[in-house]
Amino acid sequence: MENKIYIFDTTLRDGEQAPGIHLNVREKLEIAEQLSRLNVDIIEAGFPISSASDFESVKKVSKKIRDRAVAALARANDKDIDAAGEALRGAANPVIHTFISSSDIHLKHQFHKTRQEALEMTGRAVKRSRKYTDIVEFSAMDATRSDRDFLCRMFEEAIKNGARVINVPDTVGYALPAEFSRLIDYIYANVSGIEDVIVSVHCHNDLGLAVANSLMAAEHGARQIECAVNGIGERAGNASIEEVAMIIDTRGRDLGLNTDIRTREIVRTSNLVKSLTGYVIAPNKAIVGKNAFAHEAGIHQDGMLKDRSTYEIIKPEDIGLARSSLILGKHSGRHAFKKRLLELDIKLSEEDLEKAFKRFKDLAEKKGAINEYDLRAIVTDEIREVDKYYILEEYKVSSGSDITACSEVRITVDGDEKQASAKGDGPIDASFKAIDKIIGIKIVLVEYNIEAVSEGKDAIGQVKIIASANENEVMGSGISTDIVEASIKAYIDAANRLRATAKGSKG
Ligand code: KIV
Ligand code: ZN
Repeated sequence: MENKIYIFDTTLRDGEQAPGIHLNVREKLEIAEQLSRLNVDIIEAGFPISSASDFESVKKVSKKIRDRAVAALARANDKDIDAAGEALRGAANPVIHTFISSSDIHLKHQFHKTRQEALEMTGRAVKRSRKYTDIVEFSAMDATRSDRDFLCRMFEEAIKNGARVINVPDTVGYALPAEFSRLIDYIYANVSGIEDVIVSVHCHNDLGLAVANSLMAAEHGARQIECAVNGIGERAGNASIEEVAMIIDTRGRDLGLNTDIRTREIVRTSNLVKSLTGYVIAPNKAIVGKNAFAHEAGIHQDGMLKDRSTYEIIKPEDIGLARSSLILGKHSGRHAFKKRLLELDIKLSEEDLEKAFKRFKDLAEKKGAINEYDLRAIVTDEIREVDKYYILEEYKVSSGSDITACSEVRITVDGDEKQASAKGDGPIDASFKAIDKIIGIKIVLVEYNIEAVSEGKDAIGQVKIIASANENEVMGSGISTDIVEASIKAYIDAANRLRATAKGSKG
């Protein structure tokens, strides 16, 4: 048996059946072209009888994509099959994928057919499909909840009438991995002619087992896996193509399997499908989640900086990602902080670095991830350090549309804690007045500026003020995610600078 696993991509058919996804013909073509770059073996382009746009998509994809097989879905009836055959007319390698349910649950409750009728429909459907193409795939829908012997008879009927691929769908994502592998073994042992066809699997993810089940089936002889980009599809979706491909790429030697997928196209494919379907990807999703190659914990970052094999089993560039990212956050250590500053071409003395690191940790505690702009703000503030005679300990403000703003500020003045409260025209003015009471100098606010120095709702605000007292003028600055706090810090910074300047001018 060959080791290659054929990748049958159903993003444009089962994927598009996911609630809320509507791809137009142009979008489907764009995805099909990318799937061709990704080098999937078969692109299931749609279900032609289901809508004029599905018909058109299959037709257009068939014309455009000449180097891949293009499949169209059809129920086991003449009208569906003729529509699929017609839509695929221009294809270089057409595949008709016809299906009928094999489980009693479906046959009785949904289709009102006997098992005998279903068998007859199977034979007829495959035979009719063969009029249009040599490559016919037959799927027994709900195979995993079907009577095994009946399922085997159905597959024999399909093979006898010319099916080249026998697909075993776990339509409702019910199978357990070991159970599914036993079903594949059973099919190999009990379906005559099975050695002449490709056994395919199509697993849904209702219990989160779609990829595991697909892999188990491959280990037991299945040679085609049906999957979708980002795992989209009915309900919880299909097996995700990027996970299947990267498992086989990473562990292929142990599995004895390979695929022809060009893994470097994975990120591009995933991004395209994400943006055209509007289906967001969880940050922790394997392979293509935004955190799949991001490290925040200090110990992990330290390991990554020494050798990335310590915490990564896939090279990001192997899936088309530029690099791993070391996220600076509250769990990050000095090593990663220093490295990031060097990348940003920021050089600090050991002493400034230590201060900046402390400030970074304080900010990360409040804000979470710290980006480049945050870092620059932290560092500029740290570099222009001045002797801290006044240190902010705590502040509380109250303000509202019907109350006068009030602020209570606690400051350490040369080691002694002092507290004052004041009312003012808004929480910032009240805070400045409270600080004036503590420090005992009348500071004149010449200029006040605030700007966001990072992005997002939790962006850092940087307040810069120009303040004067006793004919000296200084600039004070403060940063925080809270603008009142940034303002208070700027005012206290200015107070420290005014004091330093006054001291300096006295000699
Ligand atoms: O989930 C399923 O059973 C299907 C079939 C049409 C293969 O999508
Ligand atoms: Zn499906």
